[in-house]
Amino acid sequence: MKDDILKVLLTQEQISARVAEMGAELAKDFCDKNPMFIGVLKGSFVFMSDLVRCTEIKCSLDFMSVSSYGRGTSTTGEVKINKDLGQDIAGRHIIIVEDILDSGITLNYLVGYLKNRQPESITLVALLDKPSRRRAPVNANLTGFQVPDEFVVGYGLDFAESYRNLPYIGVLKPEIYAM
Ligand code: PRP
Repeated sequence: MKDDILKVLLTQEQISARVAEMGAELAKDFCDKNPMFIGVLKGSFVFMSDLVRCTEIKCSLDFMSVSSYGRGTSTTGEVKINKDLGQDIAGRHIIIVEDILDSGITLNYLVGYLKNRQPESITLVALLDKPSRRRAPVNANLTGFQVPDEFVVGYGLDFAESYRNLPYIGVLKPEIYAM
């Protein structure tokens, strides 16, 4: 698996330091608001797990499973909900947690989808942001790192369902996804 990585973009230490800062910021902003974290599976599962443990306030969490990429390297433009929320979000402060904001198509769709359920507020948190790739009008309220337009994997992010378990974020060798 490691042989497929061209270079490490963000080390475990860099990620954990930034996630701790993000959790502290959310704890300050949502103190006494009992927010609900909504992790967008599958890519966010590692980030979500670290982020909620760095947000030391009363909160709840849920997950949605959404896909838009399939096995390809760029979005199909269609968002499919594979698993919806198990809880009502009306009147709640929700924090949507994404591993990466790329074209913005997924988050833009999700915000519209969840707004209909009348949450009190919607906050978007993305570990990684690739602003150069944006196609939909959406920005995160809190971002971990801006990354260049390279194929990144690890810390939850995959290529064809592999590499999610790398503890760092790396750039995949082009020959792997060009195969
Ligand atoms: C990835 C990622 C985001 C989305 C971002 O999900 O986890 O949900 O793409 O891309 P966008 O801004 O261009 O919409 P993917 O569909 O690959 O599914 P996964 O989370 O299961 O890997």
